Amino acid sequence: MKTNIFSIATAITLGASAVWGSPSSSEKRDSITPITVKGNAFFKGNDRFYIRGVDYQPGGSSKLADPIADADGCKRDIKKFKDLGLNTIRVYSVDNSMDHDECMKALADAGIYLVLDVNTPKYAINRADPQKSYNDVYLQYIFATVEMFAKYDNTLAFFSGNEVINSGNSSSAAPYVKAVTRDLRSFLRARKLRHVPVGYSAADIDTNRLEMAQYMNCGTDDERSDFFAFNDYSWCDPSSFSVSGWDQKVKNFTGYGLPLFLSEYGCNTNTRKFEEVSSLYSTDMTGVYSGGLVYEYSQESSNYGLVKVSGNDVKELPDYDALKTAFSKTDNPKGDGDYNQTGGANACPPKAAPNWDVSSDSLPAMPAPAKKYLTEGAGKGKGFDGDGSMEAGTESTTTATAGSGEVSGATSTSTSSSSKGAAPGIKVPQLPMTTVVVGLVTAMSTLFGASLILL
Ligand SMILES: *[C@@H]1O[C@H](CO)[C@@H](O)[C@H](O)[C@H]1NC(C)=O
Ligand SMILES: *[C@@H]1O[C@H](CO)[C@@H](O)[C@H](O)[C@H]1NC(C)=O
Ligand SMILES: *[C@@H]1O[C@H](CO)[C@@H](O)[C@H](O)[C@H]1NC(C)=O
Repeated sequence: MKTNIFSIATAITLGASAVWGSPSSSEKRDSITPITVKGNAFFKGNDRFYIRGVDYQPGGSSKLADPIADADGCKRDIKKFKDLGLNTIRVYSVDNSMDHDECMKALADAGIYLVLDVNTPKYAINRADPQKSYNDVYLQYIFATVEMFAKYDNTLAFFSGNEVINSGNSSSAAPYVKAVTRDLRSFLRARKLRHVPVGYSAADIDTNRLEMAQYMNCGTDDERSDFFAFNDYSWCDPSSFSVSGWDQKVKNFTGYGLPLFLSEYGCNTNTRKFEEVSSLYSTDMTGVYSGGLVYEYSQESSNYGLVKVSGNDVKELPDYDALKTAFSKTDNPKGDGDYNQTGGANACPPKAAPNWDVSSDSLPAMPAPAKKYLTEGAGKGKGFDGDGSMEAGTESTTTATAGSGEVSGATSTSTSSSSKGAAPGIKVPQLPMTTVVVGLVTAMSTLFGASLILL
């Protein structure tokens, strides 16, 4: 759905030190319970958590803007988020040279979480040339972004990529998407940041949705995602669980070991009544799905908006009331919604070109010059005004050994259970703890020198 065109962003660059608090700072930023992963579901403390969200890109997909850096606009819209009954927004790009404290705190105060895409139009994997675009300049940008946002307790999740694969043949870029996901997870652990769940948002295509989901959840733990999401516009009112084909999407994903959610939904072919809401939050679906994000908050040229924003004025459109009504009459299921506590890995999908064109389960290794960010931190973000990364930097020249993304010494504040409970019959190394630790210390010493081990 999202198609970005570059725009000239205003040049505002704040020094990183002025913007970032220390992760160990005793100052209380916010008081909202971070979301964690258990089995195939999200949890807020001991309670199952379902995403009730919207995609938030005031200005539209063709105009690059960072709505989290716009504190006034953010506060203006939080009133509507609360009125709609939301607990989550998704933002497609942020300028990592800007300050986001004020908006993130206001969201936390309102009980609202953020699902954040780490990429921007200029800093992303290029599906036409993934090998070149997976480089250290790119990783510096996205590491700086997660370093900034992992500090907020209401950052629910990071999308490592969005619709990179949008056809059969573009699945050849999948190993790069998976490598980026691995690197983000390694970075969070190496920097001792909160283990914010990391996963991919897939395009609304049947061609290889299931294969991509399986692929992102196969291999060693360091290579696997914390969740999977996809866009889905198949429920067009008037419809039903079976007419829309959502019953098949439950069937196909039953037994999948990660939390799943819809990263965009809300077909607008006919008048929207959002009747899918009562299905999405019923036990027809909650054994496998954890809610979703309605496309989209503001009215843009594609006509999906709930409100029309003009300056400080926010006008509610008919879809706003329809969604508000749908949410207000739909409670979450009682108890745990029949989630699967086991979770865990599955086998990698076999190559089946042209729909699934990935011949090896091995991933590219992190580009060598990017490894220093694991020990030194990412440094200052280049922001929307940066020169971009697709043609820059040093690309990956080697294949990673399975397990290379493991990071020792990052045991605190784990929020993901993805290292537990691999499905029976799936090969995931289960070594005695001492072996693992010694093995990791050796590997990490070789890679980064002894300093990291003493963290
Ligand atoms: C996939 O095929 C289309 C149509 O032939 C082509 O335009 C596109 O460049 C190809 N993409 C990749 C990643 O090979
Ligand atoms: C379910 O899986 C089958 C087999 O992979 C596939 O052909 C079908 O398109 C999938 N259905 C949906 C709705 O994803
Ligand atoms: C629960 O998840 C495991 C691991 O993915 C799977 O093997 C099992 O079939 C699932 N159970 C149900 C009831 O879906």
